[in-house]
Amino acid sequence: MNAILTTGRLSFEPITRSDIDILTELDSDPEVMRFIDRLPTPRKAIASQVEGILAEYERTPGFGQWVARNRDSGDFLGWFALRIGDEPGHGTLGYRLRRTAWGRGLASEGGRGLIDYGFADRGLDRITADTMSVNERSRRVMAAVGMRYLRTYHEQFDDPLPGTELGEVEYQITRAEWQSRRSPSTTLG
Ligand SMILES: CC(C)(COP(=O)(O)OP(=O)(O)OC[C@H]1O[C@@H](n2cnc3c(N)ncnc32)[C@H](O)[C@@H]1OP(=O)(O)O)[C@@H](O)C(=O)NCCC(=O)NCCS
Repeated sequence: MNAILTTGRLSFEPITRSDIDILTELDSDPEVMRFIDRLPTPRKAIASQVEGILAEYERTPGFGQWVARNRDSGDFLGWFALRIGDEPGHGTLGYRLRRTAWGRGLASEGGRGLIDYGFADRGLDRITADTMSVNERSRRVMAAVGMRYLRTYHEQFDDPLPGTELGEVEYQITRAEWQSRRSPSTTLG
């Protein structure tokens, strides 16, 4: 195992071409894709995404997208991403888990782990995450990992998903917020 990061229950490992089938299977669940796409992502598109991810490891070492496995069994649970954002010091967080992994706090655990990694090991100044406004589960993860709502914005899509009219939301945690969460002021006496 060559994990870049472990948390209590998760191991994050670099994606390889041998993950194409399992990533295709993940995107074939309509519930997983409900706020992402109407159709499953074709295997060919996943294969091309994997090539992009491999190139990203070279271009921005320490950032990108990783598979998340059960730390004990090695079972595939989904993926997490921490990517370079649009200016220096900005990172973006993403996650997608197979449905059998939902409802166990794994997304929040992995998100917290990646936020700690982004600030402590990668020197980021702020981390943001985006989702459809109507994606309540994802918004709960953002709040659970200490992010706060920043804004709602609207994008144009050719074939918008139900709920698009309510827009996309962006959440953020800054380094200062992360630090204050980690080191609450000590009370003497
Ligand atoms: C978004 C997504 C990752 C959230 O998964 P999740 O399992 O709901 O999120 P968490 O891991 O934080 O788990 C929270 C749930 O686990 C429960 N839970 C159980 N044990 C827990 C524990 N030890 N710690 C925390 N929560 C726990 C919580 O009560 C909560 O349940 P609830 O949703 O019924 O209220 C998942 O729905 C998903 O992959 N969706 C598809 C992709 C997607 O939409 N991605 C994001 C935007 S593009």
